[in-house]
Amino acid sequence: MTLESSGFATRAIHAGQEPDPLTGAVSVPIYPTSTYVQEEIGTNLAALEGGTASRVFGSGMAAINAVATMLKAGDHVVAGHNLYGGTPRLFDQVLANFGLTFTYVDTSDVNKVEHALLKNTRLVFLETPTNPLMELCDLRAICELSHQHGVEVVVDNTFMSPYFQRPIELGADMVVHSTTKFLNGHSDGLGGVVVCTKPEQAEKLAFLQKCAGAILSPFECWLILRGVKTLAARMLQHDSNGRKVADYLSKNAKVQKVFYPGLTNHPQHELAKRQMSGFGSMIAFETGSLANANKMLRKVRVCSLAESLGGVETLISHPATMTHAAVGEEGRRKIGITDGLVRISVGIEDVDDILADLDQALAAI
Ligand SMILES: Cc1ncc(COP(=O)(O)O)c(C=O)c1O
Repeated sequence: MTLESSGFATRAIHAGQEPDPLTGAVSVPIYPTSTYVQEEIGTNLAALEGGTASRVFGSGMAAINAVATMLKAGDHVVAGHNLYGGTPRLFDQVLANFGLTFTYVDTSDVNKVEHALLKNTRLVFLETPTNPLMELCDLRAICELSHQHGVEVVVDNTFMSPYFQRPIELGADMVVHSTTKFLNGHSDGLGGVVVCTKPEQAEKLAFLQKCAGAILSPFECWLILRGVKTLAARMLQHDSNGRKVADYLSKNAKVQKVFYPGLTNHPQHELAKRQMSGFGSMIAFETGSLANANKMLRKVRVCSLAESLGGVETLISHPATMTHAAVGEEGRRKIGITDGLVRISVGIEDVDDILADLDQALAAI
């Protein structure tokens, strides 16, 4: 049996993580003066996403910035209108100054993506499910359509991890992650990765890394390699807890709406079942007002009020004032992020404790 033909969990533990030939150490050692550790993690993450190579960066934003700087002045990008707030901030407030142009569309509608494509469009940049409204993009359809126009597709797969969604198998040309989230999984290290499908992408990214210097430190590489070993086990528990929390929230009278692709009333539930092998643990829900959101967020104890996501601990946040503050009030209104919206990244604690915590916090509304 080869490593390539083995299962996901086996590859997560062994691909690119062979025992150290020098000492026999089972854990990949850190050589502070070399780039070897980056090459090892690149191998590991490319194997999990089904890509050919990958490059790791100092953060998710550094990875996204590297992808965008593969373009040149005059190029156009079509991007989802509901991305992680830092991504349009980078595009509009930094890269637009260097001659790149961006059009934001509702990428849950394939026709809108098609209408936005221009002669100079080089890239479609997608997040699915979106952050925080959990809208899906039909990856196969968008990749097919974009390729017909000679346009490449990049997918930010941070929310699902390669355990539940592998965009390259559906046609994507590159995948990016904030490894800060599920891949590391322990809220203790920043990082980003771009997984490539073509040698010229990997070469160009390596060149950009060298030029701009946004590399990942050996210690952070080591943290991610360690985190990824338990990715399969963690994702299964995240998914199991996520489904139970979404179900609980959808039955709580204080909650007006729940956004989770695993719920049968999610408008894209069928696509979610087709495109992903689990529903994950990212959930958003509507409390009705900023005052209600504040009342409940002040009361949580097991859930930690914090930005970020994908750690073993349950993190709860308020998109309007935290992750999506940079989008501005008007921007949030356009895409439907209300002041009463709360986002939860369900951790892997005992689910009854998470449910009891939410129950007492929602009782404050
Ligand atoms: C979907 C998504 N992509 C990218 C990023 C940026 O990653 P980082 O914080 O590692 O720069 C985030 C951060 O929250 C995110 O949620």
